[in-house]
Amino acid sequence: MTTRTVGPFTVSAIGLGAMPMSMNGDGVLPPRDEAIATVHAALDAGVTFIDTADIYAPSWAEMGHNERIVRDALASWEGDTTGILVGTKGGITRRSAEKDFGRDGSLAYLRSAVERSRENLDVDVIDLYQYHRPDRWMVYGEIMANLKTLQEEGLIRAIGISNASIEEIDIARQVLGEGNLASVQNEFSPRHPGSYGELRYCDEHDIAFLPWSPLGGTGGGGRNVGERFTTFREIGEDHAVSPQQVVLAWELSLSTRVVPIPGARRAASITDSAQAAELALSADELARCSAAVGIEI
Ligand SMILES: NC(=O)c1ccc[n+]([C@@H]2O[C@H](COP(=O)([O-])OP(=O)(O)OC[C@H]3O[C@@H](n4cnc5c(N)ncnc54)[C@H](OP(=O)(O)O)[C@@H]3O)[C@@H](O)[C@H]2O)c1
Repeated sequence: MTTRTVGPFTVSAIGLGAMPMSMNGDGVLPPRDEAIATVHAALDAGVTFIDTADIYAPSWAEMGHNERIVRDALASWEGDTTGILVGTKGGITRRSAEKDFGRDGSLAYLRSAVERSRENLDVDVIDLYQYHRPDRWMVYGEIMANLKTLQEEGLIRAIGISNASIEEIDIARQVLGEGNLASVQNEFSPRHPGSYGELRYCDEHDIAFLPWSPLGGTGGGGRNVGERFTTFREIGEDHAVSPQQVVLAWELSLSTRVVPIPGARRAASITDSAQAAELALSADELARCSAAVGIEI
């Protein structure tokens, strides 16, 4: 598959968002063997980047559920897993109540979260550790300094951030040092094009931009993107491909730094989405996609 870079890593232009196998808008999770088959299908399709997070779990008591699926899928895949990048995230806490999500950017918390993720992923060093969501009780620069400490201690290789504003990306660049912010993961899709400014900023500063929920999310947005945004469906019909592939190909066209991470619980979804990396759309088709989303290129 066509490749792109995320920090020091070369990865497939389309990644796999593993969240729907542990947490899903409609609450329906695949049995474990199906989840593992979905990760295997991604790898079979040439995907070499998997996005997970410690909080992706059916309940607070099962934190690390998704990381362990990814670990077991990699361990049981028959191919060569060298060069496959797993990015995880930390900084969101989950406590006893089902909806009780909090934030913690302290060094003590992040260190303990990194330790747990290392164990869940069965790795000595986490290749890409992404700070999940800003802890508004703390100064962002201090949180970045905490991540840098963990990097200097050799626990994490590359640092990414998520749900970040341009100001926060800028602070991260300053604290981590030029070239040391590997990625920014923000919501971006036809349904939520709001972080196009952050995408452009990343393009300008050579930082990978990872659109999350790139198709519109697990609550039906991803499955039905062609119904809500008919331009993508029409262009897909002209190429005999799914509207999802057109959405992902359009996102890839916005910058060479974009690496979408479409989610999947079914193998068929990621097998189809992965093909977007090779879908060539004309300038006219791309302009129609942007116009349908309301983005001025
Ligand atoms: N950083 C953050 O705060 C944050 C927040 C949310 C998500 N994320 C990351 O972003 C990833 C992707 O987001 P997401 O999973 O929320 O939403 P998404 O990728 O926009 O959409 C996933 C949905 O689209 C369906 N789908 C995917 N590919 C398809 C295809 N080719 N044809 C038809 N349907 C298709 C999936 O179906 P099936 O499930 O039935 O296969 C699923 O229902 C997550 O997995 C997670 O890793 C990050």
